Amino acid sequence: MRSFAGRDILSLKDFERNEFFHLFEIADRLEPIARSRRSSDLLAGKILVTAFYQPSTRTRLAHETAMHRLGGQVNGFADAKVTRAGDFYQESIKDTVHMLEFYGDVIVMRHFLQGAPHEAAKWSSIPVINGGDGWGEHPTQILTDLYTVTKEMGSVDGKTFLAIGDHRMRTMHSLGYALSQFDAEMVILSPEAMSPRPEHLAELDAKGTRYRIVEHVDEAIADADVIYMEPVVQPDYTHSRDEKPSEYPTTPANYKVTQEVMKRAKSTSIVLHSLPRMDELTTDVDGLKHARYWEEAYNGVVMRMALLSSVLGAWE
Ligand code: CP
Repeated sequence: MRSFAGRDILSLKDFERNEFFHLFEIADRLEPIARSRRSSDLLAGKILVTAFYQPSTRTRLAHETAMHRLGGQVNGFADAKVTRAGDFYQESIKDTVHMLEFYGDVIVMRHFLQGAPHEAAKWSSIPVINGGDGWGEHPTQILTDLYTVTKEMGSVDGKTFLAIGDHRMRTMHSLGYALSQFDAEMVILSPEAMSPRPEHLAELDAKGTRYRIVEHVDEAIADADVIYMEPVVQPDYTHSRDEKPSEYPTTPANYKVTQEVMKRAKSTSIVLHSLPRMDELTTDVDGLKHARYWEEAYNGVVMRMALLSSVLGAWE
């Protein structure tokens, strides 16, 4: 297995099966620290730099909490407008990263431009973690989600994932790449305008991800082990931010999961949602035994503890 020490986490395209299991094992080891709300000194003396050019609740705060729980420190920005990258100067990624690399030991970057964290990694002497890049990928979210499936269901292998939402979306891309390393099926459900791009499907074919496309949640809900959700009503992820519109469109029934829809699901199935949600996942699902999105959000901290400690070489 390749070493994680010093490694950039930019994509799940090249992740190998044993690397998923390695991170799951580290996450299991660190989980009691998060559960008991303790801190450790595993990353004492290390600094995480958060460079967020797009809004975030979970990704930024889960990385920050992970760093604090492991005894490290955090600096950074949650809005590029407070930096020279977001004002008159529009400072380049290259120039910005040449500062950030001396302000900390690892960078987590979210950006509205696909490939921005990859560009940052080219110029950075410290590891760069992709916290979501435009429509590109969201690797740490999917690592969190597959860890959640492993914890809740024993294994990712043998599972059918019904992936509902915008399949041009970064999370869906990382899911498709990751599932190529497991004996799992991805059932794709999205409005036509949000279908996976042909180039992406060609990549999944090349990687050997098993997938099929359906048009209505009722076609696939009974076979699904993991109901994996993303909004279809959402902002344009290629912008730095979208403000609240005067009126939101509503999600068509084909792409909605409600308590009524869940009556047709397997009793053992679980519902994941990377959040935030719109109306595609109704709150009446929250009280069902299937709902696992709060556990997923908690595991977001645990997986980021595993990732940060690994790229910072704490296990070497
Ligand atoms: N799941 C996720 O990426 O959430 P945030 O946009 O709040 O980080």
